[in-house]
Amino acid sequence: MTMNRPYNFSAGPAAIPEEVLQQAAAEMLDWHGSGMGVMEMSHRGKEFIAIYEQAEADLRELLAVPPEFKILFMQGGGLAENAIVPLNLSRAATVDFVVTGSWSQKSRKEAAKYAAEVRTAASGEESHFTTLPDPAGWQLSRGASYVHICSNETIHGVEFQELPDLRALGSDAPLVIDFSSHVASRPVDWSRVSLAFGGAQKNLGPAGLTLVVVREDLLGHALPACPSAFDYKIVAENHSMFNTPPTWGIYMAGLTFQWLKRQREGAASGVAAMEQRNIAKARLLYDFIDQSQFYVNKVAANCRSRMNIPFFLRDESRNDAFLAGAKERGLLQLKGHKSVGGMRASIYNAMPLAGVQALVDYLQDFERTAA
Ligand SMILES: Cc1ncc(COP(=O)(O)O)c(C=O)c1O
Repeated sequence: MTMNRPYNFSAGPAAIPEEVLQQAAAEMLDWHGSGMGVMEMSHRGKEFIAIYEQAEADLRELLAVPPEFKILFMQGGGLAENAIVPLNLSRAATVDFVVTGSWSQKSRKEAAKYAAEVRTAASGEESHFTTLPDPAGWQLSRGASYVHICSNETIHGVEFQELPDLRALGSDAPLVIDFSSHVASRPVDWSRVSLAFGGAQKNLGPAGLTLVVVREDLLGHALPACPSAFDYKIVAENHSMFNTPPTWGIYMAGLTFQWLKRQREGAASGVAAMEQRNIAKARLLYDFIDQSQFYVNKVAANCRSRMNIPFFLRDESRNDAFLAGAKERGLLQLKGHKSVGGMRASIYNAMPLAGVQALVDYLQDFERTAA
């Protein structure tokens, strides 16, 4: 059974593929004849262990995570990782940040509580975060414990189209990426990344699950004050079950991974198929906005996010009418983040091309009737 649901452009928690929701609904009261719903199972029972192991294996396959990386399913979201990463990796020394928008700004501020020194290697602030600073100009510190970037800034709508190669820039520091808002939308170049973290609630499932993918050699250096439940080594040794993991979130993410594995675009499948679809979706929306005199996106073309597309009506007095009309058409949660204003369309993996086309049709009609 499929329902005619509205298109949901929320930045997160965000739309989940309908097939995944349907399957979760069907299994809600009785998972695979066990007589229990997933939320009611012991995390140490064979049923949940099977769910966990399948989810981990599917994610490893989908993101092509190399064997020397551990996959951790944690709690606390992206903001908790802003503390957990420096607690584990800073070694109370210097850490470098590249500030490209609100999320990396927040990460830098939090890290200052734990690292001896936090340096800003580069910032996009002068451009009001409409461009990404060119890695060739980054001022990387000698001997930094790590370099942090946010690879997709959800609020400002800028995305690294290629991850920086720190070695080529003369640094041997590990690269940490916050990939909360574009995980599984494109492949990850693990040869350039040492740790990636992200909340699940945009592209992987419900809020409450935090994904960490970390290279093994970075484990075991936590500061003495690091809570045991946040010490990556302890979490890894206990297969994410040092404490009770977010079992429902892991299950829902697991269903999403299965859904991702089923996706096809030509010869491509999984994340490669999603990437093709995401390129097509983003192009459709940006091309429309760019040719219009009525709407504007201010981000430099080579830095634009495929996932989060902030845009403005040139006449902002029409914002409320725009949002009301969108809602009537079944186009939900298009209001921009309060710090930026305007509108934002988040078009994660669960948003089909037809949803973006419906938005473009509405943009066109609203422009026409407002003229
Ligand atoms: C890129 C990025 N990092 C971190 C966060 C914060 O995540 P959480 O609210 O799960 O702590 C968000 C949330 O929107 C985000 O988009």
